[in-house]
Amino acid sequence: MSGAPAIALERVRKEFAKGERRVLAVDDVDLAVEQREFTAILGPSGCGKSTLLNMVAGFEGPTAGRVLAGGAPVDGPSPARAVVFQEPALFPWLSVFDNVVFGPKTQGKPAAEYRAGAAQIIEQVGLSGFESHYPAELSGGMRQRVGIARVLVMQPQIMLMDEPFGALDAQTRSLMQELLLEVWERHHQTVLFITHDIEEALLLADRVCVMTARPGRIKKTIRVAIPRPRSIEVTTSPEFNRLRAEVFALIREESLRAAAESARAGGAR
Ligand SMILES: Nc1ncnc2c1ncn2[C@@H]1O[C@H](COP(=O)(O)OP(=O)(O)OP(=O)(O)O)[C@@H](O)[C@H]1O
Ligand SMILES: [Mg+2]
Repeated sequence: MSGAPAIALERVRKEFAKGERRVLAVDDVDLAVEQREFTAILGPSGCGKSTLLNMVAGFEGPTAGRVLAGGAPVDGPSPARAVVFQEPALFPWLSVFDNVVFGPKTQGKPAAEYRAGAAQIIEQVGLSGFESHYPAELSGGMRQRVGIARVLVMQPQIMLMDEPFGALDAQTRSLMQELLLEVWERHHQTVLFITHDIEEALLLADRVCVMTARPGRIKKTIRVAIPRPRSIEVTTSPEFNRLRAEVFALIREESLRAAAESARAGGAR
């Protein structure tokens, strides 16, 4: 199945139902992410981005349609599909090093196998010297770097990132984006990256999928033909500005449509 896309969503629909209350979160989503491709998903709040990612992670199942990883149906979480959330769920009682090696350790790998790799990854994410610190002694950006190191040490084929830098200040955020670019240039994992931030999506991704307001569908997919390796400097290039304007217009159109629809629904009540 090596030719299969790393991730495929086929006519995926997800409805949350609790008693009388029903929410159609996403509807009719088709998406294929090729192996080693970096795809970003952009869309208004509540349009179903996290719902999509959670289905790929295997935390939720679709109501209709199929979610596949490497050509096989996703039937639960797997270490091959690592997830990075906005707030890294670190173990407060473990040091940076022990948080990073927690995964391989619980998998029963011998320490000799993962220690050197973990030390290298800690260095890559700029945390050398902080190995014995505890999460409470770190800044938000440093905690997020531990979260990323903990994922990288597992060498996942697929990284699912749900607004991983959303809680960080602008400066730290841009450093983290550069770090992720570096990591990606080195390992070329398949990445599905969710964000609200147009520039972040265009800086990082090969392809940006813009979603509609809820129920979320893919409104348009835009290929980001900006050469790699990229750095923050590309954000001032004419091509970047053109793409930014295009995506901005798409999102604005969608927000206006959603606002008009909710005003109509309010009037009908
Ligand atoms: N477990 C759940 N049970 C019921 N409804 C849910 C559940 N998870 C999500 N929803 C609903 O599905 C819709 C989409 O939610 P989702 O979290 O996927 O949006 P999002 O695009 O990630 O939003 P944001 O940008 O704010 O993170 C929302 O209306 C939300 O209320
Ligand atoms: Mg979300």
